[in-house]
Amino acid sequence: MLLVTGGAGYIGTHVVRALRSGGREVVVVDDLSAGHPELLPAGVPVEVGSVLDTDFLMDVIDRYDVDQVVHLAGRKAVDESITRPSYYYRQNVYGMQSVLAAMVRMDVRRIVFSSSAAVYGTVGDATVTEEAATLPQSPYGRSKLMCEWLLRDIAAAEGLSWAALRYFNVAGAGGKELADRGVHNLVPRVFQAIDRGEAPAVFGDTYDTPDGTCIRDYIHVTDLADAHATVVDAMDAETMGTVYNVGCGCGASVLDVMRAAREASGVPFDWRITDPRPGDPARVVADAGRICAELGWKAQHDLDDIVGSAWEAWSASRAAAMTASKQGAALAVGAH
Ligand SMILES: NC(=O)c1ccc[n+]([C@@H]2O[C@H](COP(=O)([O-])OP(=O)(O)OC[C@H]3O[C@@H](n4cnc5c(N)ncnc54)[C@H](O)[C@@H]3O)[C@@H](O)[C@H]2O)c1
Repeated sequence: MLLVTGGAGYIGTHVVRALRSGGREVVVVDDLSAGHPELLPAGVPVEVGSVLDTDFLMDVIDRYDVDQVVHLAGRKAVDESITRPSYYYRQNVYGMQSVLAAMVRMDVRRIVFSSSAAVYGTVGDATVTEEAATLPQSPYGRSKLMCEWLLRDIAAAEGLSWAALRYFNVAGAGGKELADRGVHNLVPRVFQAIDRGEAPAVFGDTYDTPDGTCIRDYIHVTDLADAHATVVDAMDAETMGTVYNVGCGCGASVLDVMRAAREASGVPFDWRITDPRPGDPARVVADAGRICAELGWKAQHDLDDIVGSAWEAWSASRAAAMTASKQGAALAVGAH
């Protein structure tokens, strides 16, 4: 049985689906601080609790006979991590330590961890290989790097098999019900602004890039989920101890995303340029050659697929919210 921590979150619900499609049995641990367990496939057990609680994790591992962990639970907002660093280090770093402690005590020997391209920081114009210097520019990025250090050291001491997947910018949806409901990432932030009739913000247009806006590597969440299933399968056959970049290997600027959102939504919105955000590097694009060469995984979707699927899911979740609020209003009227 596989334990997926944070499995009720945006990426987690996609990862659980991919693992189940590959015939895996999964149990989810999630504290539901940002999770939606109703979006998980029927029959997936959800144990509600925090990864900070090692005894709780050991109990789940014992009851479900867990033999592998995919650790996604954590906090992910760069700007929030700057104002609440202590909280981020506790949730992400102590969370990692707790998961590893539970695994070691229960003799679970394989783990896949959600790391982030935020561990790299500013890397110049080259695409980023896994060997690039790690100079994270935010507490969030530093917390993910510290998690990787913990993972390496504890795995070396205890003989664990591990892979840290450094996700680049995850967006899109694998179904209409699976929208990214957080508004920390660019694509949902743009959609939220469109819905409000506001001009979405572009944080800075004086970066050293062709159009002056930040360049990122956008990866469709279903491609990312398939990467997890690929790594989990590979761990059946071999002992790992490695880091993989998971991106498409291509860069899109913030203005490219704005144009794709105009196209997908059909709304001819304008954007507004605001101050750059602290901690945002100019360009971060993956070299995803290692995971392709070693495991045969490669991203299948482009920016239009990503933004188009995200818009469909966003529209569906807005329609569902409006229906729910009308039903609520009708019930309230009926009650009087
Ligand atoms: N979304 C991205 O672009 C991105 C990029 C790089 C890395 N990541 C990492 O991927 C992971 C998943 O991200 P996501 O986008 O699905 O975020 P999300 O917030 O949608 O999902 C995180 C899930 O973890 C749960 N959770 C949080 N703290 C917990 C705790 N202490 N104990 C148990 N459950 C807890 C939340 O309830 C939620 O269901 C995170 O670790 C994040 O840092 C995300």
